[in-house]
Amino acid sequence: MADLWQNAMDHAVAAARRAGEVVREALQDDRKVMTKSSSVDLVTQTDQKVEQLIIQSVKEKFPTHRFIGEESVAAGEACVLTDEPTWIIDPIDGTTNFVHAFPFVAVSVGFSVNKQVEFGVVYSCLEDKMFTARRGRGAFCNGEPLQVSQQEDIRQSIIATEFGSSRDTETVDRIFTSLRNIVSIPIHGVRGAGTAAINMCMVASGCVEAYYEIGIHIWDVAAGSLIVSEAGGVLMDVEGGAVDLMSRRIVAANSRTIAESIVKEIDSFSPARDDAPTLGQ
Ligand code: IPD
Repeated sequence: MADLWQNAMDHAVAAARRAGEVVREALQDDRKVMTKSSSVDLVTQTDQKVEQLIIQSVKEKFPTHRFIGEESVAAGEACVLTDEPTWIIDPIDGTTNFVHAFPFVAVSVGFSVNKQVEFGVVYSCLEDKMFTARRGRGAFCNGEPLQVSQQEDIRQSIIATEFGSSRDTETVDRIFTSLRNIVSIPIHGVRGAGTAAINMCMVASGCVEAYYEIGIHIWDVAAGSLIVSEAGGVLMDVEGGAVDLMSRRIVAANSRTIAESIVKEIDSFSPARDDAPTLGQ
């Protein structure tokens, strides 16, 4: 099996690189913007095209594998993670960035077997950075090994987060309560690239100590979660305990100490799970 997964990972890297070319070309044209779950949850034809390109290329090589793709789920497909080999795809993580030409846009491909992520590929296509990780074999950026920051004092840290795509008042209030609590610890600063996948790669690269968000989806974080843990980081639920990729909540940190410091400050809530039967995006 080990070699088969290596073939699959090589395929994912090549597919992500091709997808990145499509994304870069599309940035030269007008982008027709549509919306999904809310007026700020954006999608473009490029998201849909890139997802189909990746899925078709995988199907040709691995016809029995399953898929969870952001745009396929938005189109009504079930979001179910089984024990079967499953490709978890976000064709454009950072669609809002893509629409505005804000220069952080990623293609994210995670691959899970027995509900465990075996490899993760995040291609930051405007920076031309290929982040990769395979379970038990480390994390890399353009072939160079990644290592999380060694800083264990939250007061000396930069924390990444995002505001997500809900504008429901209660949700926005909780997001700001958490942010106020964390900023006032105090910490050195807050950053957000506009893509969960790249935020997680920044944790893996050691330039931010942690990333947390409530409202992300499995396709935003599947690949990045392995890249963080293979770079020496930890994953945690926002209330502590193990992370559940379907729960739409994550803390990804350089260390348990920093993760626990963040968890203490989060005003947590539980959005509808990705695998809830009625989600339908
Ligand atoms: C979004 C981005 C964003 C995060 C949202 C995600 P998309 O993914 O990762 O940073 O705040 O929660 O849904 O929609 O651009 O693939």
